[in-house]
Amino acid sequence: MQASRSGKLNISLFHSADDLVEKAAELFGKAAKQSLSERGRFVVALSGGRTPRALYERLAVPPFSSSIDWTSTFMFLGDERCVSHDSPESNFLMAKTALFDRVSLAEANIFATERQDSDPEFAAADYERRIRSFFHLKEGELPRFDLIFLGLGPDGHTASLFPDSKALTENEKLVAANFVEKFQSFRLTFTFPVINNSRHVLFLITGKEKEDIVPLVLQDRENDGKRYPAARVRPHDGRVDWFIDRDAAANLNL
Ligand code: 6PG
Repeated sequence: MQASRSGKLNISLFHSADDLVEKAAELFGKAAKQSLSERGRFVVALSGGRTPRALYERLAVPPFSSSIDWTSTFMFLGDERCVSHDSPESNFLMAKTALFDRVSLAEANIFATERQDSDPEFAAADYERRIRSFFHLKEGELPRFDLIFLGLGPDGHTASLFPDSKALTENEKLVAANFVEKFQSFRLTFTFPVINNSRHVLFLITGKEKEDIVPLVLQDRENDGKRYPAARVRPHDGRVDWFIDRDAAANLNL
């Protein structure tokens, strides 16, 4: 593994997606231990899509399945498609089959969205209400997640914050029902205020299909993320890591 920094961004380059997953699982375990010792709980937001599945499956087997205190671990979704939870498109279903069903995580520790397939606006407001209640937030306060996983889309989106979509400028809500032109559908997503209030954000970026967007997002980070949403992930009091494999980093001279 090679490490380098670009601004406040820590980039770790991995020889393969398997090496990346192993290190991400170790980081998860360490963050869990630290959060539990400092705050008595570990609060995580998962990303969806294809890349993170391998990590969730790795966490579901030893040593992580037995070494992590799942009873004090609380799982949220950083974004969700507006489909039913039994749809193959559902991020919740992916996390449930890859991880939730395979470790001793109580249902009360898992915060899935509700009615996202029938009423996106209700689902976003309801999820926000449950986040506010979980963190006991007062008016104007933001939740502070211990760890938020994110991915990077080939168009530079992250979570369901897509280029030119309305949620990019949402500064009040915690969760937005964001209409995505390219899919002609809504998606639920954490907004930047939530993501950038996190203690730690970890991007998992693998595959050749990301080789072009990776350098563009890094460059855009230097330009305050005017172009690509992923470039605007800059926790004001937290760490952001990119775990990237060789294929996705092909155009970087790391
Ligand atoms: C989703 C994700 C999305 C994802 C990127 C990258 O709901 O699809 O949250 O933001 O992280 O699209 O997806 P891959 O990692 O599968 O390429």
